[in-house]
Amino acid sequence: MKNLCTKDQILKSHQERFACKVFDKNKKISKEDLEFILEIARLSPSAMGIEPWKFLVIKDTNLRQKLKPICWDQDQITDASELIVILSRTKYSLFEKGYIKDICTQRKRDLDRCNNYIKNLPNINEWTKKQCYIVLANIMSSAKMIGIDSCAIEGFDSSYEVAKTLGVDTDIFDVALLVALGYRDMSITPKSRLDFDKVVEFL
Ligand SMILES: Cc1cc2nc3c(=O)[nH]c(=O)nc-3n(C[C@H](O)[C@H](O)[C@H](O)COP(=O)(O)O)c2cc1C
Repeated sequence: MKNLCTKDQILKSHQERFACKVFDKNKKISKEDLEFILEIARLSPSAMGIEPWKFLVIKDTNLRQKLKPICWDQDQITDASELIVILSRTKYSLFEKGYIKDICTQRKRDLDRCNNYIKNLPNINEWTKKQCYIVLANIMSSAKMIGIDSCAIEGFDSSYEVAKTLGVDTDIFDVALLVALGYRDMSITPKSRLDFDKVVEFL
């Protein structure tokens, strides 16, 4: 398949993606761009292909005001054009509510194999949360590729409190992460990363 973007374009986009702390309150993401980003999120891979997530787009400004104090008073919560909450499924939802069974049936996958694998994991709720970081990365990278800035937000003391504020059924979902999206009102923070040789080893 022909390259869709040049390596230079992809690299530039990753170099210029940064944790945006100050968003332009007046510049909104178009519906089309938001739907594009959500579609990329939906296409994310997950272990065993179980897609243990749901995405809440918080349009209600009152809800965003309520979230701010429980998210370390971060301005991105209220000022970014969009705020997406990434929910992860609980163990109870996977097994007691039949989610695994349904998805295995849908995908024509071996239910016993799937059940055995997941039931042997040391912490199923943490495992489903981990899958959500893949979504986060895809959201932030794809947003930047279309010129949209972002900030991942894990800065909250209690995911339970965030969930309750949003009326999330905590038997079924945990709040894994938040991500603010919009247009920056600050300059791009220069990248500070460990050297290539420090983080890459060829064996
Ligand atoms: C999972 C995750 C959670 C984060 N949570 C916050 C947060 O709550 N608030 C914030 O301002 N930045 C947050 N960040 C941004 C990081 O601090 C930032 O990505 C890191 O320092 C590297 O900087 P860069 O993204 O500008 O390259 C988070 C990043 C990740 C990946």
